Amino acid sequence: MIKVDISNVWGELSLADMLQCEQEVFDAHMLLSEGKGPGNDFLGWLKLPTFEETEEMRRIQRAADKIRSDSEVFVVVGIGGSYLGPRAAIELVNGSHHNLKKGNPQIFFAGNNLSTNAWLELCQLLEGKDFSINIISKSGTTTEPAIATRALLLMMDRKYGAKAKERIYVTTDSAKGALRQMATEEGYETFIIPPNVGGRYSVLTAVGLLPMAVAGMKPTDVMLGAARARKDMDIRSFENPVWQYAAIRNLLYRKGKKIEILGSYEPNFRYFAGWWQQLFGESEGKDGKGIFPATVEFTADLHSLGQMIQEGERNIFETIVRFAPPAKQVEIGLNAKNLDGLNYLKGRTLDFVEEQAFQGTLAAHVDGGVPNIVLQADEICADTLGELFYFFELSCGVSAYMLGVNPFNQPGVEYYKRNMFKLLGKPGY
Ligand code: PA5
Repeated sequence: MIKVDISNVWGELSLADMLQCEQEVFDAHMLLSEGKGPGNDFLGWLKLPTFEETEEMRRIQRAADKIRSDSEVFVVVGIGGSYLGPRAAIELVNGSHHNLKKGNPQIFFAGNNLSTNAWLELCQLLEGKDFSINIISKSGTTTEPAIATRALLLMMDRKYGAKAKERIYVTTDSAKGALRQMATEEGYETFIIPPNVGGRYSVLTAVGLLPMAVAGMKPTDVMLGAARARKDMDIRSFENPVWQYAAIRNLLYRKGKKIEILGSYEPNFRYFAGWWQQLFGESEGKDGKGIFPATVEFTADLHSLGQMIQEGERNIFETIVRFAPPAKQVEIGLNAKNLDGLNYLKGRTLDFVEEQAFQGTLAAHVDGGVPNIVLQADEICADTLGELFYFFELSCGVSAYMLGVNPFNQPGVEYYKRNMFKLLGKPGY
């Protein structure tokens, strides 16, 4: 199980602070599990993980096997909660350079921007390649993926004619939205985002599982980690890592630590941090409240944001995700001339050096007034991924209820859309 090390927050908080909020965490967890809090019609994600393979998981695996056998490229179209989860999963487990490796279809993401350059680049990448697409949109009406979908469908129609539909997979609501209507009329294979699962809590549905399966992960492995988390993290005490994380971040917020920086020493964690950022940002940032979720990639960002973290305004805390060391280790060699002066590290593993960088940075930041929460996870794999997804989703629900906001709506996102639609002359705006 994920371990939360809170030993580096005590300069800022006391054990008494933590114990004082025990009832509050209990109440927030109960609100969530009993479905009595605001937004309680969006709690389907709580019960998604199962130890047993479901028919849905088998169907996802079958679709993925077909895509893997007939497509050189797989294009995943979606934005926000319909984009960040699959990308986070694929980059963390297969690496951010996964498209340069052999064995899996290349996976590109579209419909998450309105950039002409990004679209033209995708067109170039698809030239001469056999590809399939997965259109993901819960509402089925979001502008960015809808525009990309229209263009991709035209491209596929020209390339594959009547056979195009065999390469189109739609993940959407069971009944509502233009995308559902289109899928039904055109006869595309569809996967359902349950009505009680909101976008940013949907990674453990087909939203995340189909792209993950195309990337070679087994949906059952991801679900195993998530199901274990669901079981282990149901306890109602501070032994629960969810309780520790949710309580500490709220207590720090109340002490003026308004920004949480999530980071890791794994470059492949970048998109996972992006998924976390959206999860917490859209869930908590409302009613004039919310911890601002920022992300870093260490050690690279120690040479960028390190100065700000060490000595800037003291309104931040850090959460660092650590993974168990990889089984394969890399040693630093001896160089006879030692012109780089690195012989003092000969025989040390790269992982050892990384650990010292982590320890050194932790001590420096804590000394500089930046409390640190350290989350220790197992080695990076599909199972650990499932556990992390569920841990953060549950923590987010509990934490947002402690903050006193509805974690499952996002009314603020509509503002820019209204302005944009007005400017575009969309009927009704
Ligand atoms: O978390 C959310 O609900 C949002 O970020 C949505 O996922 C995002 O706006 C995309 O919406 P849709 O899946 O309806 O296209």
